[in-house]
Amino acid sequence: MPPPDTTAGSPTPEESGGASTGEGVSTQKSDVAKGGATKGVAATELPRGAAPGIRFEKVVKRFGHNVVLRELDFTVGPGERVTLIGPSGSGKTTILRLLMTLEKLDDGLIWIGDETLWHMKRGDKRVPANQKHLHEMRKQVGMVFQQFNLFPNMNVLRNLTEGPVRVLGLSKDEAVERARGLLDMVGLADKIDAHPSQLSGGQQQRVAIARALAMQPKVLLLDEVTSALDPELVVGVQDLLRDIARQSDLTLLCVTHEMTFARDISDRVLMFDQGQIVEEGPPDQIFGEPSEQRTRDFLQAVLAT
Ligand SMILES: Nc1ncnc2c1ncn2[C@@H]1O[C@H](COP(=O)(O)OP(=O)(O)O)[C@@H](O)[C@H]1O
Ligand SMILES: [Mg+2]
Repeated sequence: MPPPDTTAGSPTPEESGGASTGEGVSTQKSDVAKGGATKGVAATELPRGAAPGIRFEKVVKRFGHNVVLRELDFTVGPGERVTLIGPSGSGKTTILRLLMTLEKLDDGLIWIGDETLWHMKRGDKRVPANQKHLHEMRKQVGMVFQQFNLFPNMNVLRNLTEGPVRVLGLSKDEAVERARGLLDMVGLADKIDAHPSQLSGGQQQRVAIARALAMQPKVLLLDEVTSALDPELVVGVQDLLRDIARQSDLTLLCVTHEMTFARDISDRVLMFDQGQIVEEGPPDQIFGEPSEQRTRDFLQAVLAT
């Protein structure tokens, strides 16, 4: 079993899953369903309302001489669920981190809805975004990380309330009520006072999912969220995410090596390698009859492990 993630230091609210409600999202208590912890996921807990799409336009990202994204183009439609597959080290996490503004882009444009993330308009020009613009834009995006990244020194409740209170300005009572609803939803109401180190990996990841949702993002990014889990814990977390994907209006961009999960959760699959999209299509096509040799090689390698 992987050790609890105590090496994460103190992640910022962004590093720990998301930054916000987005506009027009009510923070009233009636948003939080009572007794929502039925077998599935209570839809009332989940972000609703028009979610913006994502578009990468000739995005370039380098680390020194290492060009990770080479004029990368792709889109995720509003409310669409897209899975990104590709070899390890190819830049999938970098794509998500750019969307979370945890990495800076070198060139190109990233659109969230009809606004650019890293640039703002000044007259008819586009200029680099200031902090205020970045802050507003990233409120729309939440992320769940491979290594959970919970605040190790805070109990579960505070992990869920810290962002909503500090970043979104919710009252403590509102944040606590929202947190309770979400903990019910992920089946961890009884762990509200526990610290991350007292939870299994699967439980920590459920808390991390709840924490991301507590910010009521419109775009949710999932980065290999089950790959640090013991095999027997994987299915439960995947089932939870499948329910969330089905019952929310979230735009979802998911990186995973779990091909069955990818097939289940996505409307479309993007095969990514060497800085660009190699091919894309519905899951049945990509997994059933991929047209590119690179995709076939990749799938064969993944299925062999
Ligand atoms: N902060 C960083 N500094 C330098 N190189 C990085 C950094 N983050 C990622 N890289 C490099 O970028 C490439 C893509 O990494 P990553 O996005 O993590 O790939 P993936 O998620 O597909 O495994 C790798 O070569 C990795 O070493
Ligand atoms: Mg990665």
